[in-house]
Amino acid sequence: MTRVLSGIQPTGDVHLGNYLGALRQWALDQHEHDSFYCAVDLHAITVQQNPEELRAKTLETMATLVAVGLDPEVCTLFVQSHVPYHTELSWLLECTVSFGELRRMTQFKDKSTKQGDGSQEHVSAGLFTYPALMAADILIYDADRVPVGDDQRQHLELTRDVADRFNSRYGETFVLPSAAIPQIAARVMDLQEPTNKMSKSAESALGAVGIFEDVESIAKKFKRAVTDSSNEVRFDFESKPGVSNLLSILGAATDRDPELLAEQYTQYGALKADAADAVISVLEPVQLRRSELLADPAELDRIIARGAQKACEVASVTVRRAKEAMGFLSPS
Ligand code: TYM
Repeated sequence: MTRVLSGIQPTGDVHLGNYLGALRQWALDQHEHDSFYCAVDLHAITVQQNPEELRAKTLETMATLVAVGLDPEVCTLFVQSHVPYHTELSWLLECTVSFGELRRMTQFKDKSTKQGDGSQEHVSAGLFTYPALMAADILIYDADRVPVGDDQRQHLELTRDVADRFNSRYGETFVLPSAAIPQIAARVMDLQEPTNKMSKSAESALGAVGIFEDVESIAKKFKRAVTDSSNEVRFDFESKPGVSNLLSILGAATDRDPELLAEQYTQYGALKADAADAVISVLEPVQLRRSELLADPAELDRIIARGAQKACEVASVTVRRAKEAMGFLSPS
């Protein structure tokens, strides 16, 4: 059976990009694979976090994973820091990846220049070595498949390169993983600035749609979405980014092809209204499930504890294998 691993940072509010690009795919194919999904709290601290908020967000993220339809009886749901082997393997991989490879990561360049005075002087070293920890997250579960949005493509390529290098230096140790990127909505764009990806740190609050936002607010954001002045509905991200983004969102939410959908519309208003309705109808059951779960914290604790145990069982074996291959003395 194919092994799957993916993760989401427990920071900010989970938005429609996270949902359509990643979480929804995870829920859709959980029955076909042996899947591991986690809240990557160790990644969250690459930028400074408030401790109380981190704790609360981690719990909320775990509730979100269940709310989007991941069944803890079917897949393993866990908190990354509950499996200490991730950081142990990360160090071995930091010593395998090169400084040059890390320096070329576009996500590091983007995030580090947005912080402080843009000089990179005060960004954490963890932000720089982040891709080694991400590679460890994946390789430690022998994952073949990693369902992510398009923005994680470069990290996945690096993970493969690192695994390949490790295998050729020390013998076959890691499975080479592939990114599973959805055909539609792999990069959901900001509703106000459709040439930027929708993100938790959007400039305008109207640009990102939180998956737990109330339905009136979601409808309002779609109504105000930026399009263009030509009033021609066509799927073409180059010349019509706003309209194409709405078509992708509608297509992903209704499982239809955005290009064919474009033929059905002559007015932006109708497209916006249908996109909002489609999004609301996929999110409503998710919202309901999450409020039920947050009302039963004991159940969530049980899910998290069981996930940690299952994840540790698999991860400990891989780390032992990697350490032996590298020449560490086994404890007697
Ligand atoms: P994160 O927390 O930023 O995002 C979680 C998932 O959501 C996807 N995503 C999007 N998809 C489509 N459109 C968007 N606008 C959009 N924004 C985010 C992301 O691609 C991701 O799949 N580094 C990762 C977390 C991570 C991870 C891993 C992922 C850590 N270890 C191991 C996979 C495997 C991140 O920051 O995702």
